[in-house]
Amino acid sequence: MAAAPSFFCPGDRTVVSRPRRLFVKTYGCQMNVYDSERMAELMRAEGFETADSPEAADLVLLNTCHIREKAAEKVYSELGRLVPLKAARPGMKIGVAGCVAQAEGAELRRRQPQVDFVVGPQSYHRLPQLLKAAEAGGAVIDTEFPAEDKFDRLPAPARRAAPAAFLTVQEGCDKFCSFCVVPYTRGAEVSRPAAKVIEEARQLVDHGVVEITLLGQNVNAYESPEGWRLARLIEALAEIPGLARIRYTTSHPRDMGEDLIAAHRDIDKLMPYLHLPVQSGSDRVLKAMNRRHSAAEYLALVDRIRAARPDIALSGDFIVGFPGESEADFAATLDLVRAVGYASAYSFRYSPRPGTPAADREQVAVEVAAERLARLQALLNEQKQAFQQGLVGKVVPVLVEKPGREPGQMVGRSPWLQAVVMQADAGRRGEIVPVHIRAAHANSLEGEIVVAEETAT
Ligand code: SAH
Ligand code: SF4
Ligand code: F3S
Repeated sequence: MAAAPSFFCPGDRTVVSRPRRLFVKTYGCQMNVYDSERMAELMRAEGFETADSPEAADLVLLNTCHIREKAAEKVYSELGRLVPLKAARPGMKIGVAGCVAQAEGAELRRRQPQVDFVVGPQSYHRLPQLLKAAEAGGAVIDTEFPAEDKFDRLPAPARRAAPAAFLTVQEGCDKFCSFCVVPYTRGAEVSRPAAKVIEEARQLVDHGVVEITLLGQNVNAYESPEGWRLARLIEALAEIPGLARIRYTTSHPRDMGEDLIAAHRDIDKLMPYLHLPVQSGSDRVLKAMNRRHSAAEYLALVDRIRAARPDIALSGDFIVGFPGESEADFAATLDLVRAVGYASAYSFRYSPRPGTPAADREQVAVEVAAERLARLQALLNEQKQAFQQGLVGKVVPVLVEKPGREPGQMVGRSPWLQAVVMQADAGRRGEIVPVHIRAAHANSLEGEIVVAEETAT
C-alpha cells in the first residue's frame, strides 16, 4: 500500500497525515450491494475511510451493472461528472468494478481514459494490488476468473449498524436466457462452502444482525462442495441463536426443488416471501427466451409453494417487447399475472444486449413495447396495492431497522418485505415488534407498536 498522503502544516512545522478516503457508488442488484460492502471493508483494512461524496474521496469506485443499456450508460455519464473532479484533485483515482467492467474491460478505458483501473466481479479481492499498480502509472485491467477463492481473501465482515444484511452464497449463472448478460459477466455457477457461509452468518449475528438475505444470481441452484443444497443450508442457518429471519434471492423456477418448498413449510425463520421471476406468460416467448419451462409449469409450481406456505407472497420480474412478442403473447403474460396475484414485481422493456442471442433478432417497436409495459405495470400495481391494503387492520411482526423521515419515527420491514413506518425509540433498532397496521400507502405501511396490555388476553 502506498503511504497515506501528508500535508505540511506551516504553523507548528509538523507533518500531519490524513487517512485516505473511499467513495463507492453502487448500481444494479443486491449482489453488487454486497460486493460494494466487501470492497469497502477490504479497503478499510488498507487504511481507507469512507467518504460521503466523490468530492471528498481519494478513490472513487463505481460498482456497475450491465443488465440493460440504460444501466450501462449511467456509468459513462457518472464518469463524465468525475473527470473535472479528478482534474481538480491530483492523486485521485477512479476504478470501475462490477458487470460493466467485466463486459467491457479495456474498452472502458478507451471510452474514458481517466479511468485508472477496471476490475471484474471475480477479482475484486485484488483491489489493493490493482490500486498500487495504477498509482505506479500502469493501465490496469483485471477481468479474470481466478482459480483462488475471492471470499477467502476478504476480511471478516465488519460491525454494522443495520440489523439486516446480505450474504452472497452463490455466484454466476449457467442458464443462458437469450436476453441476459449475467452468464457472461458473472461466469459459471459457483457455490460457497456451507461451512464458510455459516461462519460468516455467525459473525454477522455477533455484530447485531438479525435478518440475513442469502444472495445468488441463481441462489436456489446453490450446491456446496459438501453437497448441500439451499434447503439444507437454510436449515443449518436457522439453528443460529439470534438469527431471527432468513430470506434468499434470486430464484429460478427450474431450481425450485421440493426440498426448498418443504423448507418454506417447516422453517419458521424462513420468511414467507419469494422472488420468482417468470419474464413472460407465453410459452412461445418463454421458449425463445430459453427459460426452459412453460407457463403452466410455473403456475403449478406456484400452487405447490402456496400449498406448503399459504401466507407466502410472491414477486416477479417481467420483460415486455421481447423480440417476436405478439399482442397474443403479451395477453398471455397478463393472464399469468392475473392467475398468480403478485405482491410486488419488477417489469422492464426488453433491452438488446451486445453478445446475447436475442440482440440480433427482429425487435418489437419501441412504442408498442412501451405501451405494453404501461398496461402490465398498471395491473401489477393494482395487485400490489390490493396486497398492501389487505394488511390494514392486521398485526404484523416488524423488524425495526432505521430512523424515519419525521422525528420519533422508525422504519422497519414486514415479513413480506414491505417498509413499515411507526413511532418508536431509536433504541428499538434490531427488535422485532408487533405492529398494528393502520394505513397502506403506495410503497409503505404505517402502524403502531402493540403494547403488551393490548395483546394480553
Ligand atoms: N437471475 C435472475 C435475474 C437476474 S437479472 C433470474 O433468472 O430471474 C434481473 C432481471 O432483469 C431479470 O429477471 C429480467 O427481468 C431483467 N433483464 C435481464 N436482462 C434484460 C434485458 N436484456 N432487457 C430487459 N430486462 C432484462
Ligand atoms: Fe440471466 Fe437467465 Fe441467468 Fe437469470 S437465469 S441471470 S435471467 S441468464
Ligand atoms: Fe447488473 Fe451484474 Fe447484478 S449485470 S443485475 S450487477 S449481476
